[in-house]
Amino acid sequence: MAFEPTPPTADAERAARALFRRARLNHWLGRDGAALELCRAAVAHADYSRAYTLMSRLALPGENYFRVLARIHRHLRPRTYLEIGVSRGDSLACVLPATRVLGIDPQPNLPGEPPANARIYRETSDDFFAKYDPRAELGGAPVELAFIDGMHHFEFALRDFVNVERACSRSSVILMHDCYPLDERTARREQVTGFWSGDIWRLMLLLRTLRPDLTVHTIATPPTGLGIVLNPDPAARVLADNLEALTAEYLARDFGVLAGRQAEALGLIENRWPAIRALLDARPQP
Ligand SMILES: C[S@@+](CC[C@H](N)C(=O)[O-])C[C@H]1O[C@@H](n2cnc3c(N)ncnc32)[C@H](O)[C@@H]1O
Repeated sequence: MAFEPTPPTADAERAARALFRRARLNHWLGRDGAALELCRAAVAHADYSRAYTLMSRLALPGENYFRVLARIHRHLRPRTYLEIGVSRGDSLACVLPATRVLGIDPQPNLPGEPPANARIYRETSDDFFAKYDPRAELGGAPVELAFIDGMHHFEFALRDFVNVERACSRSSVILMHDCYPLDERTARREQVTGFWSGDIWRLMLLLRTLRPDLTVHTIATPPTGLGIVLNPDPAARVLADNLEALTAEYLARDFGVLAGRQAEALGLIENRWPAIRALLDARPQP
């Protein structure tokens, strides 16, 4: 269902705007800790997207996820790439011309024809994986790089992960968007804020708990963190065989489980390219 914002009262909006302005001033003066607290105070009054945007730059400093995604493409030069959630094609634009691409989205909104190296499947990811074997669609090659950025609900992202991993090799890299929520409201399943990451954080929690064989981190990219999984195992069964039970178990986790330990629980790593490159280079080589 499309998000319909609840209009704040005039007083609440005025209070949020005043706090945001103080936050911006503090940021300009280099007082980022105070700026972050003022942003949090602003959004307590009203859903103020500018405060959330500044909050994301303060909490997750460095290049935004498109730039990091583009760096990863240039560094890995993957032969194949699978993207769930294509939308207007902004993340697809990071792909190199020599990479063979599968893009999946029930409602893609590309401004023109897809690039010559991309095939777009106009369906949900569940329907796509029920009908197609991604390897067969890629001429027998595994998915070398994947980006999961479709439906912002945990159980969808979990199924996407299971299906993508099956099509990978041990040297593949799986990326996931929206893994690091800024606060409880933006992390709800039902969208109540313009700036929204949903509950993909549950997938990070699950992978870091139940799959010690994987390397699972969240790169601190604004606006909402970029999950990265290395060493995928196409033969792994633990998630696929327990999908229903795990879905129920992790849906029952309250956002409060992250209180005071969010960075550690979601494996937050600094958004610095040398560190990200080192992580990529330490993965099993083909
Ligand atoms: C946030 S947008 C993707 C943005 C894009 N990856 C980018 O960074 O430029 C999310 C997209 O996921 C698509 N989507 C929603 N449910 C989906 C599903 N079940 N399977 C695949 N895509 C889905 C939506 O149509 C929307 O275009």
